[in-house]
Amino acid sequence: MNHSDHVRLIREGVIGGGGVWADLGSGSGAFTLALADLLGAGGHICSVDTDTRALREQRDVMQARFPAVNLEQRVADFAKPLDLRQLDGIVMANSLHFQRRKELVLQQVRGMLKPGGRLVLVEYNADKGNIWVPFPLSYPTWQKLSLANGFVETRLLTTVPSRFLREIYSAVSFAP
Ligand SMILES: C[S@@+](CC[C@H](N)C(=O)[O-])C[C@H]1O[C@@H](n2cnc3c(N)ncnc32)[C@H](O)[C@@H]1O
Repeated sequence: MNHSDHVRLIREGVIGGGGVWADLGSGSGAFTLALADLLGAGGHICSVDTDTRALREQRDVMQARFPAVNLEQRVADFAKPLDLRQLDGIVMANSLHFQRRKELVLQQVRGMLKPGGRLVLVEYNADKGNIWVPFPLSYPTWQKLSLANGFVETRLLTTVPSRFLREIYSAVSFAP
């Protein structure tokens, strides 16, 4: 997948024109860049990952390509409390599948969003994992899990075929 594919996956879930967002488990920044592209100048992204090397790589590319977007990086575990509040939106791309028990993380994530704030999830459409994707969640599983953890109006955004685990989907859910 290239940058346009990343943008296409999350485009319908992101309102452009700035805003304060977080990217949890951002890695080297494939979706941080896509989010920056969609938010445009004045956007603020708090990018969270435990991998300092990936964050360094991400910072360099962000500075080169989207210097007008404010990037704040945190080396942190998103499964532990993060001091983030009243966010317009959160992207979690290929990171929730590392959590066996997702409920606590999802409740924390919901608490970081302002009312009406959005969670854009990108995941493999599968429920059976492997060593690289240990605890995946299909879209039907996400529909139930998001509802059970206080999100509303979950909807599928798009899907793309994947050689690995067949398909990737994106979905948006809202904090009430
Ligand atoms: C498969 S990569 C995905 C990176 C990026 N979101 C993307 O889709 O290209 C998963 C990333 O999530 C990070 N990650 C996994 N669990 C995490 C946690 N509990 N806290 C912070 N980062 C985490 C990993 O360090 C890794 O960079």
